Amino acid sequence: MWLLLPPVLVLIVLKTGFLPQVAHFRETGFTKVADEMVHKVSTFGLGGATWQQQSHDTVKREAAKDVSAPISKLTCNFNNAHSDICTMEGDLRVHGKSATVYVVSASTFRPENSSIKVQPYTRKWEKETMSRIREVTMRSVPPAPYSFTIPPRCTVRHDVPAVVFSTGGCGTNFFHAMSDLIVPLYITAHEYSGRVQLLITDYEPKWVAKFRPILAALSMYPVIDLDADTAVRCFPSARVGLESHRMLGIDPGLSRNGYTMMGFRDFLRSTFSLQRPWTTPVISRSTGRKPRLVMVLRRHSRAITNEADAISSMVDLGFEVVAAGPEDASDMDQFAGVVNSCDVMVGVHGAGLTNMVFLPHNATVVQIIPWGEMKVACRYDFGDPVPDMGLRYAEYEVTAEETTLNEKYPRDHPVFTDPASLHRQGKLWEIFLQGQNVTLDIGRFRGVMQHVYQSITTD
Ligand SMILES: *[C@@H]1O[C@H](CO)[C@@H](O)[C@H](O)[C@H]1NC(C)=O
Ligand SMILES: *[C@@H]1O[C@H](CO)[C@@H](O)[C@H](O)[C@H]1NC(C)=O
Ligand SMILES: *[C@@H]1O[C@H](CO)[C@@H](O)[C@H](O)[C@H]1NC(C)=O
Repeated sequence: MWLLLPPVLVLIVLKTGFLPQVAHFRETGFTKVADEMVHKVSTFGLGGATWQQQSHDTVKREAAKDVSAPISKLTCNFNNAHSDICTMEGDLRVHGKSATVYVVSASTFRPENSSIKVQPYTRKWEKETMSRIREVTMRSVPPAPYSFTIPPRCTVRHDVPAVVFSTGGCGTNFFHAMSDLIVPLYITAHEYSGRVQLLITDYEPKWVAKFRPILAALSMYPVIDLDADTAVRCFPSARVGLESHRMLGIDPGLSRNGYTMMGFRDFLRSTFSLQRPWTTPVISRSTGRKPRLVMVLRRHSRAITNEADAISSMVDLGFEVVAAGPEDASDMDQFAGVVNSCDVMVGVHGAGLTNMVFLPHNATVVQIIPWGEMKVACRYDFGDPVPDMGLRYAEYEVTAEETTLNEKYPRDHPVFTDPASLHRQGKLWEIFLQGQNVTLDIGRFRGVMQHVYQSITTD
């Protein structure tokens, strides 16, 4: 439709001062375009007069030329349940401070979506999280002579693709960092073999510091804090938003490059120089090597009140046990090595179990599921992702006798008789995740761990 509009009409709009003209062109679809021009002026802080002069000249100049060939393309996918993603190539100009990507001389330009907004985080369904994510605007500019928006001039030119994403959604929670960002980043950016520029909106310095080794393995350039960036950076191609398929997982069928979680774990192993790709195939009493087990401990909630007894029961069975509290796990670089040296990981449901990504292939993960009909939710986060990682899975479900909720609620309370009703009231987090510790039934726990021991040893 825009192709039919004569450039002369554009000239009139600009020349006579566009604000009073808006009403006249309301039916023609120009209102939106004029609004955008107003926005642009304020964004760049140019004086109105200067701007009008400039745009007037540019339009005249461009109108005088023959129709120049479109060079940019923009495609967006809003159908994914986890994230919206826009992919573009051609003449792309990123202005960080205004969170705008100009898609210059775009063959895909349509007046109705000349401005497309995306929040580059991967939990689209979660309103509260998404409310903290900045919108990035893709502003399409049609080819000359119809380009009445003047894209800003490049101040920095990059010859590699850009990937734009937000770190505003996960704080330092290790599960969310991995599941919402690191795995999606791997799916989106690993294919460039380091020749890619990462741009981060809602820049979290702590997050960036913690994951620097992984960011450096994905990109050979320092990351850019998009929101603070006053430059206009030009790129030949860009992606805004990260691809995400499932919790802590990759669907090879959806990945352009057929990526897998096994491949992702190999990538981590090389990033952290981990020694063991696989668990030692045969661990036996006769070789004298004990299977090594890391117990991931929590402190403030879902703690194991009798953790010393639990540990000695596993030592009795023949495991070499490494007990790791949150303070041990917080140094990712070092803890990755500890985890990789182990054959088994045990822990109560919680972000610490995410460290399973560093286990050698064919290792076993044992998830302790807290009281409160939590099985489905716990499996969703840490059970279902395990097989694709090339790991084995076992679980131990805590009974009503083993939870400290006993001390707070009588046994005829819905906490015990109908936990699901409390989930429906939105109290799952408060009561069952934040509100309990567990006291393991050592006999029953030992039975489960004995089974694990037998499954990874001969004789
Ligand atoms: C722009 O809108 C058209 C029609 O409404 C749609 O087919 C197209 O996919 C949109 N383009 C983008 C990049 O969203
Ligand atoms: C769990 O145990 C920790 C440490 O022993 C304690 O600080 C915390 O208050 C307990 N939480 C609950 C919900 O009982
Ligand atoms: C994984 O471990 C199990 C038990 O030790 C063993 O039977 C199996 O062969 C191992 N798989 C591979 C691929 O090494």
